[in-house]
Amino acid sequence: MNVAELILKKRDGFALVGSEIAFLISGYTAGRIPDYQMAAFCMAVFHRGMNAEETLFLTRAMLESGSVLDFSSLPGLKLDKHSTGGVGDKTSLVIAPLVAAAGAYVPMISGRGLGFTGGTLDKLETIPGFEVQLPLSRFRAVVEQVGCAMIGQTDEIAPADRKLYALRDVTATVESIPLICASIMSKKLAEGLDGLVLDVKTGAGAFMPSLQQASDLAQSLVDIGNGLGTQTVALITDMNQPLGRAVGNALEVQEAIQTLKGSGPQDVALLCEKLSARMLSLDVTATEFNRARTSIAEAIGSGRALEKFAQMVEAQGGDPRVIDNPALLPRAALQEVIESKSEGFVLGVNARAVGRASMALGAGRERVDASIDPSVGILLNKKIGDHVEKGEPLCTVFYNQAARLESVRSQLLEAFVINANRVEPPPLIKGVVE
Ligand code: URA
Repeated sequence: MNVAELILKKRDGFALVGSEIAFLISGYTAGRIPDYQMAAFCMAVFHRGMNAEETLFLTRAMLESGSVLDFSSLPGLKLDKHSTGGVGDKTSLVIAPLVAAAGAYVPMISGRGLGFTGGTLDKLETIPGFEVQLPLSRFRAVVEQVGCAMIGQTDEIAPADRKLYALRDVTATVESIPLICASIMSKKLAEGLDGLVLDVKTGAGAFMPSLQQASDLAQSLVDIGNGLGTQTVALITDMNQPLGRAVGNALEVQEAIQTLKGSGPQDVALLCEKLSARMLSLDVTATEFNRARTSIAEAIGSGRALEKFAQMVEAQGGDPRVIDNPALLPRAALQEVIESKSEGFVLGVNARAVGRASMALGAGRERVDASIDPSVGILLNKKIGDHVEKGEPLCTVFYNQAARLESVRSQLLEAFVINANRVEPPPLIKGVVE
């Protein structure tokens, strides 16, 4: 096979067959195909797209570039959840121990934050001692012993994706549905799962702002999962305003712990419940879904989900005392309250603007290899539908560098839209794709 001919075929809008895609991916992973040819191929895919079959072949080739975990000797279901990324989304930290407490296994391989969206690994690393870079043998041992473990991608998992994602990042080819789908699903399906629930975000703070784009992405992800033998469902959920009240790594860990204690914000608790119940009842009948909801509520109410979280933290080298002592988490030195300039009802809290403000404080990173400040962030005092008096706090900024505050203050004031009339909070779940 000739690489230039395959690039030309895609450039001219023709579909590639499975063996051609496998040839490109295995050749690139092994270093036989250079970056410049793969970059041209990615750009051809960016412009011409891929049909469902090609996307499936691409995912399979990327998945098979590395190890696929085998947890078949464990007695329960092996399940995971993946979110396409949002602002204030700390649900993974709640869902992994929650679903494990309900009797399943959750071998979760997560990512770091990039741009205005946060990442699970950055949040976990705010827990003193917590180790996210475990070798696969240790990961497996924690999953077996505790029921859940959360680590970062390793060299063994989908190495083709690691190389391709770095290339796409610098060649303006990230925003392509087939490339995104193959990237996400090659990593998730390497976990050796029985079932996967996807949380595809839509709205101002989402990767795919429009409902149509989010639905297309969800359908493509679900088709790949099911096509490669893992039962997959997607919920399309609102990301117009941040999820919960905390945005920023250590602040979000604190809010996740509150949610595991049953005292988290209502939207975080509701989304965790819905996603977890879906995970536990993937081949859903209404009775099974309701049974799963009951076992989820019981796992929170009994304290077993919190206990699982503590066990996971300890097994991964972290200090479980953070559960009762949030002062052990990193804390920003300074705080400032942003007050409302008018009276009314909150019509919008622009998630993208809050995410950008949090990033400007140092909570997020512009480039994959940049470092972050785990202690900084924003606590929202008001969310959509709340009434606010003039001079009342809209949000509180936790920061370390005063020089960054001025621009953040105006960004946050602009993020809040205040309306004279009463406003209903938007529905959290906007659709289901199965
Ligand atoms: N997340 C991924 O893992 N891959 C993409 O291509 C985009 C988001």
